[in-house]
Amino acid sequence: MLPSQYPIKQVRATYPALSDGHAYLDGAAGTQVPRSVIEAIATAYRSGLGNVGGAFPASHRSDAIVAACRAAVADLVGGRPGGVILGPNMTTLTYRLARAIAGPGDEVVVSRLDHDANVRPWTQTGATVRWAEVDPVTGELPVEQYADLVNERTRVVAVTAASNIIGTRPDVPAIAEIAHAAGALVYVDGVHATPHGPVDMRALGADFYATSAYKWSGPHIGAVIADPALLETLRPDKLAPSSDTVPERFETGTSPFADLDGVTAAVDHLAAMVPGTGNRRERLLNSMAAAEAYEQALFAVLVEGLETMPHVTTYGKPARRTATVYFNVAGRTPHQVAEHLAKRGVNVWHGHNYAWELTGAMGIRDTGGAVRAGLVHYNDRSDVDRLLDGVARLE
Ligand SMILES: Cc1ncc(COP(=O)(O)O)c(C=O)c1O
Repeated sequence: MLPSQYPIKQVRATYPALSDGHAYLDGAAGTQVPRSVIEAIATAYRSGLGNVGGAFPASHRSDAIVAACRAAVADLVGGRPGGVILGPNMTTLTYRLARAIAGPGDEVVVSRLDHDANVRPWTQTGATVRWAEVDPVTGELPVEQYADLVNERTRVVAVTAASNIIGTRPDVPAIAEIAHAAGALVYVDGVHATPHGPVDMRALGADFYATSAYKWSGPHIGAVIADPALLETLRPDKLAPSSDTVPERFETGTSPFADLDGVTAAVDHLAAMVPGTGNRRERLLNSMAAAEAYEQALFAVLVEGLETMPHVTTYGKPARRTATVYFNVAGRTPHQVAEHLAKRGVNVWHGHNYAWELTGAMGIRDTGGAVRAGLVHYNDRSDVDRLLDGVARLE
């Protein structure tokens, strides 16, 4: 589908929050949700829910919601439902998995491109840490360095599928090939990447793929997807009476069942953004490819607009990136820029955005970072124009 054919008006109309008139360019920190997600959550609560594994209908409804949610998330990333671990967010799940995967005596490889949620859980395992460096000017993560970072003691290579501030999409398949050749596992942070295009975790070479539904129009739920056979080899901390089966043994406590129904509705929403045929996985691939092409066309306008302003500095110029830009305005702090834009009805984030190592490598962490503006499948030209107009007025 051509970007000009993407049904942006229809997509926007499904999001009640967008009618407040703000330009929501803060999607990288969390997206709005469509009516179908709100309805799914409300309907689940209205219908009566019980804890899972009981003998009565309300419990059976929760059993069905959990199963449907695993199937939906598996469709979204190209995984298997039996390998979908659900939890409160990516950070919590990554801490849990990191403790189960690596420890003293192992080596872990982390990157300075990553959000801290795919760094600290690994560096705090007690394993020896090796760092993949980022080029602070281009924002690229050179693949070649991994040959020197990985060895037979490497347990995990943790790497992001996309930077949450400058959008860099590193060559994860090539990094995974090097890791796998040494017998290491690959843990891919797909939190920022997932909303920006079709995902095939096997093609990425991801043994683990982490994502968060609130970045793709769903509720605040995280998921980590892996081969169930791989999960069988891991023994996370768990309560004595809780389930020992996979993937349940990685899930602590009682799940927010109504929200899980919202996750399924969000996946169905993504699959239906553009007309398509086939099963849900096929419709997702089609729909997310159309959204990506649309976003990238709009992003070109955004980036070109910012780059032609003499008072604006943008960070990174990666060859492959999501529609996410990070910039500063001469003479203003990132906070001042965000406040100025907020007064004009434009929502953007400012600061390091937890890209702790990357903003450190770029030398701007201690000076307040920069301003982040990102596009997702519901942003339109007027959002971009309002941002550009607002920034232009700061000259
Ligand atoms: C790339 C990336 N990884 C990880 C996270 C953390 O996700 P969660 O809030 O689900 O823990 C974020 C959140 O912004 C992110 O952008």
